[in-house]
Amino acid sequence: MIKERVYNRLPMKVRSQLESYAEAAQTLLEVRDPRVLSAMAPSALRGTVLKRGKQNVPTTMPASHRAYFDWSYPHDFPEMAELYDRAKRGQWNGDDLPWHLDVDPMNPELELVPRGFFAYDVLEEALGVRFTEEETQRLQHSFVSWMLSQFLHGEQGALFAAAQVTEAVQFFDGKLYGSTQVMDEGRHVEVFHRYLDTKLEKLYQINDNLFVIIDALMLDSRWDMKFLGMQIMVEGVALGAFGTLYQETREPLLKELLRNVIQDEARHVHYGVLALREHIVHQLSERERREREDWAFEVALLMRNRFLAYEVYEELFEGRITRAQWRHVVERSPGMARFRRNMFSRMVPNLREVGLLSERIRPHYARVGLDRYFQGLAADQLTGDQMLAELAS
Ligand SMILES: [Fe+2]
Ligand SMILES: [Fe+2]
Repeated sequence: MIKERVYNRLPMKVRSQLESYAEAAQTLLEVRDPRVLSAMAPSALRGTVLKRGKQNVPTTMPASHRAYFDWSYPHDFPEMAELYDRAKRGQWNGDDLPWHLDVDPMNPELELVPRGFFAYDVLEEALGVRFTEEETQRLQHSFVSWMLSQFLHGEQGALFAAAQVTEAVQFFDGKLYGSTQVMDEGRHVEVFHRYLDTKLEKLYQINDNLFVIIDALMLDSRWDMKFLGMQIMVEGVALGAFGTLYQETREPLLKELLRNVIQDEARHVHYGVLALREHIVHQLSERERREREDWAFEVALLMRNRFLAYEVYEELFEGRITRAQWRHVVERSPGMARFRRNMFSRMVPNLREVGLLSERIRPHYARVGLDRYFQGLAADQLTGDQMLAELAS
């Protein structure tokens, strides 16, 4: 009681800071697997307590994987060679996007996302006010800028991970393919940054939970963990989010940009499935396979539960509503529900294809309502065009 009274007297800003630490601790407590927890804890400390991604200085992360050279240059994986060929022909120049188009985030005719994306009713009830048209556009501008900023930071992680995996993977056809992915990710960094910088004129810092995942993957010396984390989990989140924004936005430049990026990402996830299936099914022991299976499940849940745009909350609503109320708004937003559906409809079948959805783990997925995705198509059965057609329908 006394504690509560002291707490309530604290300035709102301090209370919000305390809540954010509690939230970070809660995030870790949600990880029930002790091995996954201990593997993630150092990165969690750097990301959520020390906030290394938010210090406005560059971050260094010591990578320690093994580079794998093969001086005999074998043609060892025809499906990867085919993907390499498709990737060469699918290259595009970021300069060719229609950058001449004016982007006005406040224009209700060409909204970045429609009003129906958000649970405005929940937000208005928490705030006790009704939103004006201008406030609506402002929130949508902030939220889309936040999402795209996280894509940009994720793309920087993908660029480095693609380079590391290209060094470490043992398939020579995979190395050639990987060189195209490094180029793709470089281009994604370029176009997302240009869009944020010159069109939305807004850039958010990296979300703590995304930092934690990237930090853990950079430091892990096992190439297949980098692969699983980046190509299946992080790229899975990105594809879910890209797909949702692609479906929802009425801003033509952003739509075109996302259409191109989705085509590239479809190849990346396809490659991830090919390389991991071979490795996990044929080369890992059952104990190692299980470890990855548990890790993937925990990370899938963290990503679902922790993509909450607190940076937008801190900018616009801190001191007016609590973090818990904001969380409720995001969780109840129809656009975020579509994002989760798009994300898991791709990620779960991919996990199945790489051998990480055994009978042992299936009940855990079922418990959180993800069993409806068990039968979906994995990335090796879907081209970028099919993926876009599905999003348009
Ligand atoms: Fe990318
Ligand atoms: Fe990618």
